[in-house]
Amino acid sequence: MYKLIAFDAYGTLFDVYSIGQLAETIYPTKGKQLTELWRERQIEYTRLVTISDPNPTGSQYYLSFWEITTRALRYTCKRLGLSLSLEKEEQLMSQYAKLAAFSESLEVLKGLQAAGIKSAILSNGSQEMLATAVESNQLAPYLDQIISVADARLFKTAPQTYKLLLDQFQVSKQEVLFVSSNAWDVVGAGWFGFDTFWVNRQAHPFEEIGNQPTYEATSLIALLQKIA
Ligand code: LAC
Repeated sequence: MYKLIAFDAYGTLFDVYSIGQLAETIYPTKGKQLTELWRERQIEYTRLVTISDPNPTGSQYYLSFWEITTRALRYTCKRLGLSLSLEKEEQLMSQYAKLAAFSESLEVLKGLQAAGIKSAILSNGSQEMLATAVESNQLAPYLDQIISVADARLFKTAPQTYKLLLDQFQVSKQEVLFVSSNAWDVVGAGWFGFDTFWVNRQAHPFEEIGNQPTYEATSLIALLQKIA
């Protein structure tokens, strides 16, 4: 019934846990606070850029996700009173290039391919960040496309970003299942008109706005049981 399964990247296919571990090593007792505020600021900046100029040809304020992530890290360290040397910044940022995929990611992508269903990544991440993560986890042979929102010069949840999937694969909205661990991303994709699969790894409540996810599970593996 679905022709395309589209995955978010960070927290969905790739585990960002190692970033928190490294942050804790560099700033003992502050790792959790740093990674939470960093992630919050990163997403906040993507929204500022997008909402302030939601142009069909992209936002004039657009910065790559790599740049946004760097700026968010700098802000976070200032806010928490932590000194961020160039070396520490490089260490923390390069962890993004070394992210491990979740243990089930490969199996799920293989299963989809075996079932003749196309798969793609649609991420805020820049093309280089995504390519590195995909290659280093040997996922490339099982993904039909890696799509960065950089092509739209806007970030999720702008509808133009979800539309990139329809432009790249000749499919209708109804033929796409969008998979994310971020509830806000599930809300955006649901409003766009996709069926959604929410990977609720942390047993969080779903958002109080938006359509309920079409499917919810604690890991990606349930995807295969539900659709393939
Ligand atoms: C992404 C972030 C939002 O991969 O997780 O798009």
